[in-house]
Amino acid sequence: MPVRSSNIVPKNSDAKSHYRVRHMTHEDLPQLMEIRRELKVHDVESCIDSWLTVDPQGINVVESEGGEIVGACSAIRNSEDICFMGLYCIRPKFQGSGLGIHVWNACMDHVGPMNASLNAVPGKMELYRDKSGFPIVETEFMCQKNYTSEPVDPNNLSNIIPQGVTIESVQEYHLPALFDYDFSIVGYERKLALALNCQEENSRTFVAVKNGSCIGFGTIKRTCLGAGRVGPLYADDPVVAEVLLKRLIMSMPLVTGFVMNTVSNNMTARRLLKKLAVPLKEELTRMYRKEKLSADTKKIFALYELNLAPF
Ligand SMILES: CC(C)(COP(=O)(O)OP(=O)(O)OC[C@H]1O[C@@H](n2cnc3c(N)ncnc32)[C@H](O)[C@@H]1OP(=O)(O)O)[C@@H](O)C(=O)NCCC(=O)NCCS
Repeated sequence: MPVRSSNIVPKNSDAKSHYRVRHMTHEDLPQLMEIRRELKVHDVESCIDSWLTVDPQGINVVESEGGEIVGACSAIRNSEDICFMGLYCIRPKFQGSGLGIHVWNACMDHVGPMNASLNAVPGKMELYRDKSGFPIVETEFMCQKNYTSEPVDPNNLSNIIPQGVTIESVQEYHLPALFDYDFSIVGYERKLALALNCQEENSRTFVAVKNGSCIGFGTIKRTCLGAGRVGPLYADDPVVAEVLLKRLIMSMPLVTGFVMNTVSNNMTARRLLKKLAVPLKEELTRMYRKEKLSADTKKIFALYELNLAPF
């Protein structure tokens, strides 16, 4: 299946190992998740699986001759003209050998002439801005990783729903309204990604409905490190976002910790995290290749996925 592959020898390798870069397949996922766990990143296997279905050429891996995956990078085509880059990692003991830049370049080939966006971890912003072709730095917001290893108490959140609004566990018949609502937030269609999102194992999605229209929705999933991760969580009304968040947390009680990634200019999201005693762990810088992407961040209470989608 590898559509693009090439052999490389790490520059400082004393072993005679050879590595190649190739497209990731669904069968590679368990190995990728091992690396993500090693790096202590709260990724969700089923979520990466879904986005790989959306863009089957969107993730590249570095593989040894023996079939061991030692790194990865992704550039998922979120729409006809937007790629999102992420998952950029090399197993610690293989770092600094030239493998990272090789898998990165394979992803940039996939981006081609399109606009692309990414979230830079602290310390990497200058690299992407000055050497990787991502000169545009977001100034309106930072992307915030919020995490606690402690259980969070949904009783700290309000259960008061505005009149006429119902919170419903997602069903097939909700999907057209959910797709329209998502479009109204991010400005392009994500039907396949969302349909898959609502079916993932170890996940729950709730929809806020008023007069037959979707006015918000949210998903919680279990991460590869066993935490509950909320995202996306979008709503017109902060009061509805709070009730959705409460329902999501209640729907997945058997988790070890809690993750919610937010945009810094959504003050209600910060307030909700404070109620739950979830601290801010890290701020990532949003960067773009050609032009900024915008979305209605007042309505974005949790980002969908820090590595795979802009909002
Ligand atoms: C970031 C990471 C993937 C780089 O992989 P690596 O194999 O260690 O990097 P390489 O050995 O290929 O780097 C070789 C050279 O290419 C440069 N390079 C690496 N990635 C690059 C990129 N995306 N764009 C431009 N240059 C890059 C390096 O700075 C280095 O330059 P130097 O020789 O002048 O020092 C790896 O260090 C890692 O997994 N880090 C932890 C996870 C992480 O922080 N990921 C980034 C999230 S934003």
